[in-house]
Amino acid sequence: MRPGQIAVVTGAARGIGAAVTETLSRAGATVAAVDRDAEAVAATAARLRDSGCCVVGYGLDVADEHAVEQVGGTVEAELGPVDALVNVAGVLYPGEVADLTTADWAATFAANAAGVFHMCRFAARSMRLRRAGAIVTVGSNAAQTPRVGMAAYAASKAAATQLTKCLGLELAPYNIRCNVVSPGSTDTDMQRALWRDTDGSTAAIAGDLSVFRVGIPLGRLAEPDDVARLVAFLVSEDARHLTMQNIYVDGGASLR
Ligand SMILES: NC(=O)c1ccc[n+]([C@@H]2O[C@H](COP(=O)([O-])OP(=O)(O)OC[C@H]3O[C@@H](n4cnc5c(N)ncnc54)[C@H](O)[C@@H]3O)[C@@H](O)[C@H]2O)c1
Repeated sequence: MRPGQIAVVTGAARGIGAAVTETLSRAGATVAAVDRDAEAVAATAARLRDSGCCVVGYGLDVADEHAVEQVGGTVEAELGPVDALVNVAGVLYPGEVADLTTADWAATFAANAAGVFHMCRFAARSMRLRRAGAIVTVGSNAAQTPRVGMAAYAASKAAATQLTKCLGLELAPYNIRCNVVSPGSTDTDMQRALWRDTDGSTAAIAGDLSVFRVGIPLGRLAEPDDVARLVAFLVSEDARHLTMQNIYVDGGASLR
Protein backbone atom coordinates (compact mmCIF):
# COMPACT_ATOMS: atom_id res chain seq x y z
CA MET A 1 0.00 0.00 0.00
CA ARG A 2 1.07 3.59 -0.49
CA PRO A 3 1.96 5.63 2.60
CA GLY A 4 -1.11 7.29 4.06
CA GLN A 5 -3.61 4.86 2.59
CA ILE A 6 -6.25 3.47 4.95
CA ALA A 7 -6.66 -0.25 5.58
CA VAL A 8 -9.23 -2.04 7.74
CA VAL A 9 -8.10 -5.40 9.11
CA THR A 10 -10.55 -7.62 11.01
CA GLY A 11 -9.47 -10.20 13.59
CA ALA A 12 -6.50 -7.93 14.23
CA ALA A 13 -5.97 -8.64 17.93
CA ARG A 14 -3.76 -11.68 17.43
CA GLY A 15 -2.48 -14.32 15.02
CA ILE A 16 -2.75 -13.71 11.28
CA GLY A 17 -4.78 -10.49 11.68
CA ALA A 18 -2.13 -8.95 13.95
CA ALA A 19 0.60 -9.93 11.45
CA VAL A 20 -1.36 -8.38 8.55
CA THR A 21 -1.89 -5.22 10.61
CA GLU A 22 1.82 -4.97 11.36
CA THR A 23 2.90 -5.64 7.76
CA LEU A 24 0.52 -3.10 6.23
CA SER A 25 1.34 -0.45 8.82
CA ARG A 26 5.10 -0.94 8.35
CA ALA A 27 4.48 -0.38 4.62
CA GLY A 28 3.08 3.04 5.55
CA ALA A 29 -0.65 2.42 5.72
CA THR A 30 -2.84 3.75 8.49
CA VAL A 31 -4.59 0.65 9.82
CA ALA A 32 -7.95 0.40 11.56
CA ALA A 33 -7.41 -2.80 13.52
CA VAL A 34 -10.78 -4.29 14.46
CA ASP A 35 -11.61 -7.28 16.63
CA ARG A 36 -14.45 -8.38 18.85
CA ASP A 37 -11.85 -8.70 21.63
CA ALA A 38 -11.70 -4.94 22.20
CA GLU A 39 -9.16 -5.10 25.01
CA ALA A 40 -6.73 -7.29 23.09
CA VAL A 41 -6.96 -5.24 19.89
CA ALA A 42 -6.35 -2.05 21.85
CA ALA A 43 -3.20 -3.67 23.27
CA THR A 44 -2.03 -4.81 19.82
CA ALA A 45 -2.61 -1.32 18.39
CA ALA A 46 -0.74 0.29 21.30
CA ARG A 47 2.21 -2.09 20.86
CA LEU A 48 2.46 -1.23 17.16
CA ARG A 49 2.10 2.52 17.78
CA ASP A 50 4.99 2.26 20.26
CA SER A 51 7.16 0.98 17.42
CA GLY A 52 6.19 3.87 15.13
CA CYS A 53 3.23 2.36 13.24
CA CYS A 54 -0.04 4.19 12.64
CA VAL A 55 -2.65 1.76 14.01
CA VAL A 56 -5.95 2.50 15.75
CA GLY A 57 -7.85 -0.30 17.52
CA TYR A 58 -11.65 -0.63 17.36
CA GLY A 59 -13.84 -3.17 19.16
CA LEU A 60 -16.23 -4.74 16.65
CA ASP A 61 -18.10 -8.01 16.24
CA VAL A 62 -18.28 -8.43 12.45
CA ALA A 63 -21.33 -10.68 12.87
CA ASP A 64 -23.33 -7.62 13.97
CA GLU A 65 -24.39 -5.78 10.79
CA HIS A 66 -25.43 -2.61 12.64
CA ALA A 67 -22.15 -2.45 14.54
CA VAL A 68 -20.24 -2.88 11.25
CA GLU A 69 -22.02 0.14 9.75
CA GLN A 70 -21.53 2.17 12.92
CA VAL A 71 -17.84 1.37 13.48
CA GLY A 72 -17.15 1.58 9.73
CA GLY A 73 -18.58 5.10 9.74
CA THR A 74 -16.45 6.02 12.75
CA VAL A 75 -13.29 4.66 11.08
CA GLU A 76 -13.93 6.71 7.92
CA ALA A 77 -14.73 9.84 9.95
CA GLU A 78 -11.60 9.48 12.08
CA LEU A 79 -9.06 8.10 9.58
CA GLY A 80 -10.49 8.66 6.08
CA PRO A 81 -12.08 6.56 3.32
CA VAL A 82 -11.06 2.91 3.22
CA ASP A 83 -8.58 1.89 0.51
CA ALA A 84 -8.19 -1.74 1.56
CA LEU A 85 -10.23 -4.25 3.55
CA VAL A 86 -8.68 -7.47 4.82
CA ASN A 87 -11.16 -9.96 6.32
CA VAL A 88 -9.21 -12.10 8.77
CA ALA A 89 -11.64 -12.57 11.69
CA GLY A 90 -12.73 -16.17 11.99
CA VAL A 91 -13.74 -18.90 14.42
CA LEU A 92 -13.37 -22.68 14.42
CA TYR A 93 -15.67 -24.98 16.39
CA PRO A 94 -14.51 -28.53 15.61
CA GLY A 95 -17.02 -31.35 15.53
CA GLU A 96 -18.28 -34.08 13.22
CA VAL A 97 -21.60 -33.28 11.56
CA ALA A 98 -23.47 -36.01 13.46
CA ASP A 99 -22.48 -34.38 16.75
CA LEU A 100 -22.47 -30.70 15.77
CA THR A 101 -24.90 -28.38 17.56
CA THR A 102 -27.02 -25.92 15.63
CA ALA A 103 -25.58 -23.18 17.84
CA ASP A 104 -22.01 -24.00 16.75
CA TRP A 105 -23.09 -24.09 13.09
CA ALA A 106 -24.80 -20.70 13.43
CA ALA A 107 -21.90 -19.10 15.33
CA THR A 108 -19.47 -20.34 12.68
CA PHE A 109 -21.49 -18.88 9.82
CA ALA A 110 -22.19 -15.65 11.72
CA ALA A 111 -18.48 -14.85 12.03
CA ASN A 112 -16.91 -16.54 9.00
CA ALA A 113 -19.56 -15.94 6.32
CA ALA A 114 -22.00 -13.20 7.44
CA GLY A 115 -19.12 -11.25 9.00
CA VAL A 116 -17.28 -11.20 5.68
CA PHE A 117 -20.51 -10.18 3.91
CA HIS A 118 -21.13 -7.29 6.33
CA MET A 119 -17.57 -5.98 6.01
CA CYS A 120 -17.49 -6.40 2.22
CA ARG A 121 -20.83 -4.61 1.82
CA PHE A 122 -19.63 -1.69 3.90
CA ALA A 123 -16.32 -1.44 2.01
CA ALA A 124 -17.90 -1.94 -1.43
CA ARG A 125 -20.32 0.96 -0.97
CA SER A 126 -17.48 3.23 0.12
CA MET A 127 -14.90 2.11 -2.47
CA ARG A 128 -17.38 2.31 -5.36
CA LEU A 129 -17.70 6.06 -4.79
CA ARG A 130 -13.97 6.53 -5.43
CA ARG A 131 -13.66 3.76 -8.04
CA ALA A 132 -10.62 2.33 -6.23
CA GLY A 133 -9.84 -0.24 -3.60
CA ALA A 134 -8.72 -3.77 -2.79
CA ILE A 135 -10.34 -6.47 -0.68
CA VAL A 136 -8.69 -9.65 0.56
CA THR A 137 -10.53 -12.39 2.44
CA VAL A 138 -8.54 -14.92 4.43
CA GLY A 139 -10.27 -18.24 3.76
CA SER A 140 -8.79 -21.68 4.42
CA ASN A 141 -7.53 -24.64 2.41
CA ALA A 142 -10.31 -26.56 4.23
CA ALA A 143 -12.81 -24.74 1.98
CA GLN A 144 -11.75 -26.99 -0.91
CA THR A 145 -10.22 -30.02 0.80
CA PRO A 146 -12.64 -32.08 2.95
CA ARG A 147 -11.51 -32.40 6.57
CA VAL A 148 -12.87 -34.68 9.32
CA GLY A 149 -14.53 -32.66 12.10
CA MET A 150 -14.40 -29.37 10.22
CA ALA A 151 -17.55 -29.38 8.07
CA ALA A 152 -19.12 -26.19 9.48
CA TYR A 153 -15.83 -24.33 9.32
CA ALA A 154 -15.03 -25.57 5.81
CA ALA A 155 -18.53 -24.76 4.52
CA SER A 156 -18.38 -21.24 6.02
CA LYS A 157 -14.98 -20.65 4.42
CA ALA A 158 -16.27 -21.90 1.06
CA ALA A 159 -19.12 -19.38 1.38
CA ALA A 160 -16.73 -16.53 2.17
CA THR A 161 -14.45 -17.54 -0.69
CA GLN A 162 -17.19 -17.55 -3.32
CA LEU A 163 -18.75 -14.37 -1.92
CA THR A 164 -15.40 -12.62 -2.35
CA LYS A 165 -14.93 -13.91 -5.90
CA CYS A 166 -18.46 -12.87 -6.96
CA LEU A 167 -17.84 -9.46 -5.42
CA GLY A 168 -14.66 -9.22 -7.47
CA LEU A 169 -16.74 -9.64 -10.62
CA GLU A 170 -19.29 -7.03 -9.49
CA LEU A 171 -16.61 -4.50 -8.56
CA ALA A 172 -14.18 -4.99 -11.45
CA PRO A 173 -15.87 -2.19 -13.47
CA TYR A 174 -15.12 0.11 -10.53
CA ASN A 175 -11.40 -0.76 -10.51
CA ILE A 176 -11.79 -2.63 -7.20
CA ARG A 177 -10.02 -5.96 -6.84
CA CYS A 178 -11.14 -8.83 -4.58
CA ASN A 179 -8.97 -11.85 -3.82
CA VAL A 180 -8.77 -14.75 -1.37
CA VAL A 181 -5.77 -16.06 0.54
CA SER A 182 -6.24 -19.63 1.78
CA PRO A 183 -3.84 -20.64 4.54
CA GLY A 184 -3.13 -24.14 5.73
CA SER A 185 -1.95 -24.89 9.28
CA THR A 186 -0.52 -21.65 10.64
CA ASP A 187 1.04 -21.25 14.07
CA THR A 188 -1.58 -19.22 15.96
CA ASP A 189 -3.92 -19.64 18.94
CA MET A 190 -6.57 -21.13 16.61
CA GLN A 191 -4.14 -23.79 15.39
CA ARG A 192 -2.82 -24.61 18.87
CA ALA A 193 -6.36 -25.09 20.19
CA LEU A 194 -6.59 -28.13 17.85
CA TRP A 195 -3.43 -29.80 19.15
CA ARG A 196 -3.83 -32.91 21.27
CA ASP A 197 -0.45 -32.39 22.98
CA THR A 198 2.07 -29.60 23.40
CA ASP A 199 3.92 -30.45 20.19
CA GLY A 200 0.96 -30.73 17.87
CA SER A 201 3.00 -29.14 15.10
CA THR A 202 4.80 -32.47 14.56
CA ALA A 203 1.48 -34.22 13.94
CA ALA A 204 0.23 -31.43 11.66
CA ILE A 205 3.41 -31.57 9.58
CA ALA A 206 3.51 -35.39 9.42
CA GLY A 207 -0.21 -35.76 8.63
CA ASP A 208 -2.62 -38.38 9.95
CA LEU A 209 -3.92 -40.96 7.48
CA SER A 210 -6.51 -42.22 10.00
CA VAL A 211 -8.37 -38.95 9.30
CA PHE A 212 -7.28 -38.86 5.63
CA ARG A 213 -4.99 -35.92 6.22
CA VAL A 214 -1.73 -35.77 4.32
CA GLY A 215 1.07 -33.75 5.87
CA ILE A 216 2.70 -30.52 4.81
CA PRO A 217 5.15 -31.21 1.95
CA LEU A 218 7.29 -28.15 2.75
CA GLY A 219 7.77 -29.57 6.26
CA ARG A 220 6.76 -26.65 8.46
CA LEU A 221 3.73 -24.80 9.75
CA ALA A 222 3.16 -21.36 8.26
CA GLU A 223 4.02 -18.37 10.41
CA PRO A 224 1.32 -15.65 10.43
CA ASP A 225 3.83 -13.50 8.56
CA ASP A 226 3.82 -15.93 5.59
CA VAL A 227 0.14 -15.10 5.12
CA ALA A 228 0.57 -11.39 5.86
CA ARG A 229 3.19 -10.93 3.13
CA LEU A 230 0.87 -12.35 0.46
CA VAL A 231 -1.98 -10.16 1.69
CA ALA A 232 0.29 -7.10 1.50
CA PHE A 233 1.15 -7.97 -2.10
CA LEU A 234 -2.50 -8.47 -3.08
CA VAL A 235 -3.62 -5.08 -1.73
CA SER A 236 -0.66 -3.32 -3.38
CA GLU A 237 -0.33 -1.80 -6.84
CA ASP A 238 2.03 -4.69 -7.72
CA ALA A 239 -1.11 -6.85 -7.93
CA ARG A 240 -3.09 -4.36 -9.98
CA HIS A 241 -4.16 -6.95 -12.58
CA LEU A 242 -5.10 -9.69 -10.08
CA THR A 243 -8.71 -10.17 -9.04
CA MET A 244 -11.01 -13.12 -8.19
CA GLN A 245 -7.96 -15.27 -7.38
CA ASN A 246 -7.65 -17.75 -4.52
CA ILE A 247 -4.03 -18.33 -3.53
CA TYR A 248 -3.06 -21.14 -1.14
CA VAL A 249 -0.40 -20.56 1.52
CA ASP A 250 -0.27 -24.11 2.88
CA GLY A 251 3.15 -25.52 2.05
CA GLY A 252 1.50 -27.81 -0.49
CA ALA A 253 -0.79 -29.48 2.10
CA SER A 254 -3.86 -29.51 -0.12
CA LEU A 255 -1.87 -30.97 -3.06
CA ARG A 256 -3.23 -28.34 -5.44
N1 LIG B 1 -4.30 -20.78 12.06
C1 LIG B 1 -4.57 -21.59 11.08
O1 LIG B 1 -4.04 -22.72 11.03
C2 LIG B 1 -5.51 -21.17 9.98
C3 LIG B 1 -5.59 -21.97 8.83
C4 LIG B 1 -6.45 -21.59 7.80
C5 LIG B 1 -7.21 -20.44 7.91
N2 LIG B 1 -7.11 -19.68 9.04
C6 LIG B 1 -7.97 -18.48 9.11
O2 LIG B 1 -7.17 -17.33 9.33
C7 LIG B 1 -7.92 -16.37 10.07
C8 LIG B 1 -7.12 -15.96 11.30
O3 LIG B 1 -6.90 -17.11 12.08
P1 LIG B 1 -5.90 -17.15 13.32
O4 LIG B 1 -5.28 -18.50 13.28
O5 LIG B 1 -5.09 -15.93 13.37
O6 LIG B 1 -7.02 -17.17 14.49
P2 LIG B 1 -6.98 -16.63 15.99
O7 LIG B 1 -8.06 -17.39 16.69
O8 LIG B 1 -5.59 -16.69 16.52
O9 LIG B 1 -7.43 -15.11 15.82
C9 LIG B 1 -8.71 -14.79 15.28
C10 LIG B 1 -9.11 -13.41 15.72
O10 LIG B 1 -10.40 -13.13 15.14
C11 LIG B 1 -11.21 -12.52 16.13
N3 LIG B 1 -12.61 -12.76 15.84
C12 LIG B 1 -13.27 -13.93 15.83
N4 LIG B 1 -14.58 -13.74 15.56
C13 LIG B 1 -14.75 -12.41 15.39
C14 LIG B 1 -15.88 -11.59 15.11
N5 LIG B 1 -17.09 -12.12 14.96
N6 LIG B 1 -15.69 -10.25 14.97
C15 LIG B 1 -14.46 -9.71 15.13
N7 LIG B 1 -13.37 -10.43 15.44
C16 LIG B 1 -13.51 -11.77 15.57
C17 LIG B 1 -10.78 -13.16 17.45
O11 LIG B 1 -11.13 -12.37 18.57
C18 LIG B 1 -9.27 -13.29 17.24
O12 LIG B 1 -8.58 -12.15 17.71
C19 LIG B 1 -9.26 -17.02 10.42
O13 LIG B 1 -10.25 -16.60 9.52
C20 LIG B 1 -8.97 -18.50 10.24
O14 LIG B 1 -10.12 -19.23 9.92
C21 LIG B 1 -6.28 -20.01 10.08
